[in-house]
Amino acid sequence: MHTPPLKHLLSCRDLDADLILQLIQTANQYLSHHPHPAWHQKTICLFFVEDSTRTRCSFEIAAQKIQANVIHFDWQRSSLNKNETYLDTFANLAEMGVNLFVIRHKEELFSQKIAAGLTANAAIINAGDGCHEHPTQALLDVMTIQQNFSDWEKLKVAIVGDIIHSRVAHSLCHLLLSLEVADIRLIGPKEWLPETQIHPKHVQCLTDCRQGLKEVDVIVTLRIQKERLEKEMQMCDQDYFSQYGIDTHKLKLAHQNAIVMHPGPMNRGIEIASEVADGKQSRILTQVRNGVLMRMAIMDYLFRRQS
Ligand code: CP
Repeated sequence: MHTPPLKHLLSCRDLDADLILQLIQTANQYLSHHPHPAWHQKTICLFFVEDSTRTRCSFEIAAQKIQANVIHFDWQRSSLNKNETYLDTFANLAEMGVNLFVIRHKEELFSQKIAAGLTANAAIINAGDGCHEHPTQALLDVMTIQQNFSDWEKLKVAIVGDIIHSRVAHSLCHLLLSLEVADIRLIGPKEWLPETQIHPKHVQCLTDCRQGLKEVDVIVTLRIQKERLEKEMQMCDQDYFSQYGIDTHKLKLAHQNAIVMHPGPMNRGIEIASEVADGKQSRILTQVRNGVLMRMAIMDYLFRRQS
């Protein structure tokens, strides 16, 4: 079934393969110096109530490239501290002329809640909500994968680490399944793997990293989400690195042309060895560069549906 035009980007569940590929194509055109759209009359509010480097800065740069106005909502000095509700805050900002909110919040489904309650015409992008989803990260990830591999159905993808707390892993799984990737391996300690099957035919959960990495084309290694762990990690950092950290020995188990990705921020020597992070198979900084282009494509898509 075809995705109806989206007013917001809240979850990767809302995107079908056609729309995912359309966004990748648009973002790739910006890479090859296709003229950027100009949205002078639009105002974007970066509403981050959680720390960020890549997502917040790349949205700001992407907004500048499409000539939109940007404001940063300073929640620590806002009237949220005088008990104003979030919904009233968003309604007031929309009334001032904000056309698009980019929201990061630690609460799961926060963006969905605001989208459901806000009557204004403003669009909303979920830039990370707790352990739930991070759609723009997953879109830049599939863009990066497509720059290296052309056949989605033959691809073998390993996602390694703290799967259940990772909004990146959740969003990426939805996109890979929509693109009909048939071999997705979620690898990590048992307590960080999903208890319920995501997709019995195409998604396997494995605790043995060396076994799971055999012949894969893509390794996505994840940050340990220490701020979201309900209980202390069972393993010390050294043991984690030995079992799940991507080093040159584990990388050799993957296909010889395999690429290594990490959404960042990365913990060197815990999730990934520096030789791999900075090595020739790493696409970590390519992901960051693609992030600006993909965010331009997403904002352009949403603005076209408003204008
Ligand atoms: N990948 C990512 O979301 O990074 P930031 O937390 O720095 O935005």
